[in-house]
Amino acid sequence: MNEMNKMEAEVREYYGKELQSSADLKTNVCCTVVDYPDSIKSALAKIHDEVVTKYYGCGLTIPTQIAGLNVLDLGSGTGRDCYLLSQLVGESGSVTGIDMTDEQLAVANRHVEWHREKFGYARSNVRFVKGNIQELSAAGIESDFYDVIVSNCVVNLATNKRAVLEEAYRVLKEGGEFYFSDVYCDRRLPERLASDRELYGECLGGALYWNDFQNLAKQCGFNDPRIIESHPIAIENASVAAKVEGYRFYSVTYRLFKIGELEPACEDYGQAVKYLGGMEEQDKFFTLDDHHIFEQGKVTPVCGNSLLMLQASRYARFFEFYGDFSTHYGIFPDCGADIPYSANKAETQNTDTNGSSCC
Ligand SMILES: C[S@@+](CC[C@H](N)C(=O)[O-])C[C@H]1O[C@@H](n2cnc3c(N)ncnc32)[C@H](O)[C@@H]1O
Repeated sequence: MNEMNKMEAEVREYYGKELQSSADLKTNVCCTVVDYPDSIKSALAKIHDEVVTKYYGCGLTIPTQIAGLNVLDLGSGTGRDCYLLSQLVGESGSVTGIDMTDEQLAVANRHVEWHREKFGYARSNVRFVKGNIQELSAAGIESDFYDVIVSNCVVNLATNKRAVLEEAYRVLKEGGEFYFSDVYCDRRLPERLASDRELYGECLGGALYWNDFQNLAKQCGFNDPRIIESHPIAIENASVAAKVEGYRFYSVTYRLFKIGELEPACEDYGQAVKYLGGMEEQDKFFTLDDHHIFEQGKVTPVCGNSLLMLQASRYARFFEFYGDFSTHYGIFPDCGADIPYSANKAETQNTDTNGSSCC
């Protein structure tokens, strides 16, 4: 067995046999407390106890406006998020959960009929598939079918993250999005920590350095990854915290759009959008990401990428769009990627008598 397969076997053993409930997790990395909106609270209350007890995700990883959509959950575990999504997409939508651990799938599958009845559906809109999220095609997951992919604290556990992102891109429809939470580190972890069984199972060992993740996402077609929310993780287990002393971990929710025209940086074409209101839970303000909150009725300047994320996705009918891509005005100043060569820097270099730069 090669190292990657060995780590996958360890993950299966950990989630399938060792953990019996979220109380058995040794750290709080995968299970953070989130204040859910009322609609989510009432949907969660309709999910079977056994499914909820074995929930090992982090926070709420469900985007808005998903009624009638096809949704895929990568690493669906015992199915808590799938049963939540089942209610949110409604009977005309569909939910597919994929997981590689038999014990997790057994719990998820045991309660399909129970939830169908509870939700009052004529036919269940949920199915669970056994498979590896790195090989969705081998599990029969078709191309260009899903409107939304979600995943809750799983990608870090995959030994080949590039394959996960490439497969996610393949199965999404154009305009669809991969909306997921995961764990990232402020730097690259050395091999001794990355291969530590306990750290790996607790979603720390497999955490990518954030900038490696962002570059990888771009290489896989997801230009311009957007952060919805992020927060530092306080590891409340002394021996685990000691192992990773000096490394800072973050729980982050990203949204990655599959839109062919997105550029790797936010470019300014003098465009703007107006949010018309009307999205569920976000009638007055719509949050695209942690630095784009659109107020109903207000015309807001945006970069070309933000405009495309709204115009080429299911959010289009909630917006009016102004301008086109015919004139480029340089980098968009408010998207966190300003021109790095400021006049001040050049002046400092020119007057630095110790400077040895020949350029
Ligand atoms: C931290 S749990 C999260 C489970 C679920 N999302 C939840 O919120 O309860 C990780 C899950 O991912 C699954 N998993 C890890 N790596 C996987 C892979 N490469 N392919 C499929 N499933 C995987 C595990 O079997 C486990 O059920």
